[in-house]
This record gives sequence, C-alpha cells and structure tokens, in this order.
Amino acid sequence: MTELDRKDLLGLEGMSAEEIELFLDTTASFKEISERTVKKVPALRGKTIVNLFFEPSTRTRASFEIAAKRLGADTISISGEGSSLSKGESLVDTLNTLSAMRPDVIVMRHSASGAPQFLSRFLSTPIINAGDGQHEHPTQALLDAMTILEHRSSLEGLRAAIIGDIGHSRVARSNIHLLAKFGAELVLCGPATMLPRPLAELAPRISLTHSIEEAVSGADVIMMLRVQLERQNVLNFPKNEYFQFYGLRLEHLRLAHPDAIVMHPGPINRGREISSEVADFPRSVILNQVENGVTARMAVLERVCGQSS
Ligand code: NCD
Repeated sequence: MTELDRKDLLGLEGMSAEEIELFLDTTASFKEISERTVKKVPALRGKTIVNLFFEPSTRTRASFEIAAKRLGADTISISGEGSSLSKGESLVDTLNTLSAMRPDVIVMRHSASGAPQFLSRFLSTPIINAGDGQHEHPTQALLDAMTILEHRSSLEGLRAAIIGDIGHSRVARSNIHLLAKFGAELVLCGPATMLPRPLAELAPRISLTHSIEEAVSGADVIMMLRVQLERQNVLNFPKNEYFQFYGLRLEHLRLAHPDAIVMHPGPINRGREISSEVADFPRSVILNQVENGVTARMAVLERVCGQSS
C-alpha cells in the first residue's frame, strides 16, 4: 500500500519517490481546470470537506478551499478561536465531533508537531495535514516540486539551497524529504541556532553552511524561509542583522546558476529574509508557487476523497 493509497496524507517522509512522481504526473490535468473560464468540475460533487485551522493561515487555507470548490465539493472552514477548544474541549473530542457529521475529509493545521498523525489513529475520517508544528507540510513540498519541474526537467542532480530558519520549519522538512528522495543536492544555510544537525543526516547529499554566498553558489533553486517571528527574540537576531547575514539580495543571485529560480512559501517579510528587488525579480516564482498550491491540493483532495467513496 502506498502513502497516497492510505486514508490520510500526513507527511512525505514515508512516501517513495515513485509514489510522489505518480502523484506529480496527475497534476497537469488539474492545472488545466484552473485555466478555464468556468473553473469547476464535478469530480467531488456530494463530498464534504472540513478545513480545520488551529493556526493563522492565508494561502494554505484559501488554497484548500478554492481547490475543494473547483472540484465541486461542499466545504466548511473552522478556525481554532471559533471552535469548542476555547471552551475546554480536547482536540480528540473536537475531531470526533466533526467526524460524527461524516465529512469525507478533514484538512487540518495545528501548531503541535504530530497532531494529525496522533488524531488519525482515532478517526475513520481521512486527514490531510496542512502543516503540523515544526514537523511536515506535505502539500507545500508537493506544490514546490511542481513549481521546480516547470523550470527544470528533473529534480535529480539539481542543486537546491534552502536558507533561513530551517530547524523550525515544516516547509523545509517536507522539502528536504522530497528533494532528497529524488537525488537533489541540498545545501542548508542559516545561523547555528536555526540549523539542527539531525536534518543534515537525512540523506547523503545534504551539506550545511553558515554562509549565504556559499549556499547560493551554483544553485539551481534558492528556497528562502520565513524567520518564525515569535522566535525572533529567543534567537536574539535583530531584523537588520539577520538581513545582513541571511537575507537574499540581488548580488547573491549573480553567484547562482544563471537560470536559478527563487522560491518562498510565504508569507514573505521583505527586508528580513528577502529583499524587495529579489521578491519581485523575474525569476522569483513565489506567485507561481501560490498558483500551483491550488492545483496540488486539487490533486491531493481528489486522491484522498476518491479513496473514501
Ligand atoms: C508556511 C507555513 O505556515 O508553514 N506558510 C505556508 O503554508 N505557505 C511558512 C511560514 O509560515 O513560515
């Protein structure tokens, strides 16, 4: 049984490159739907999708909702503040309550690493992980792979620099799992407080550096990450100082591959991890990532809901 044949999509760590590739192959047909004048097909008509977001989110939440609607599903969105958790109900009880209404899938974001994995053991309703703590953000890495493949014929052998708060980033973790499985060469770059060694041991072709110049040299893909703002004080990194050492600026792009693309999962903080010039640069694909987010989530929803029919 493959990860996508299982009832949930919880993370990419347990997925093989072949399973991910099979999935990526299906995305083209979903992208075509978003390019039509009438962007709606009945693939998930009669299905109900619950979006349960216990953390703030703009793009991931909107993207899942738009994806579900384009496939004809009914959706409801619940945020943490508006839920019974604020009345003292446990997470398991909240999820069991929602599950009793027989939705076809629960899309869930939570600040606790491992929350969706834990809940999936109790629930018959499939769960899609829309980001759990510092652990995984599988749909983000899938849409990132889609985006890279629009600019490169293969993930194998490409050099990707991931720069920033890697240690606390679920986006970095899922991308590292995915890219390493496809034989990409990964350079992880950030200050020591944001660069945990165990991640570097995930695959042989991963190296660590504290120098952004070294990281971007010869890179085909430069993936920037947000400094998790709440940790700004803990890490004792003033905004300007962080930008000086780890902010991506135009001068860095000259060291990269001439066709290198610049990625960022958003939300971007201009002047902190990326300069405005780079964010708006022609080879910045940040908005393409957002666009592909809808496509990747359509493919994931169709796959997961299709199993539960
Ligand atoms: C990321 C997240 O929430 O993990 N954003 C996203 O989903 N596109 C990255 C972040 O918030 O730093």
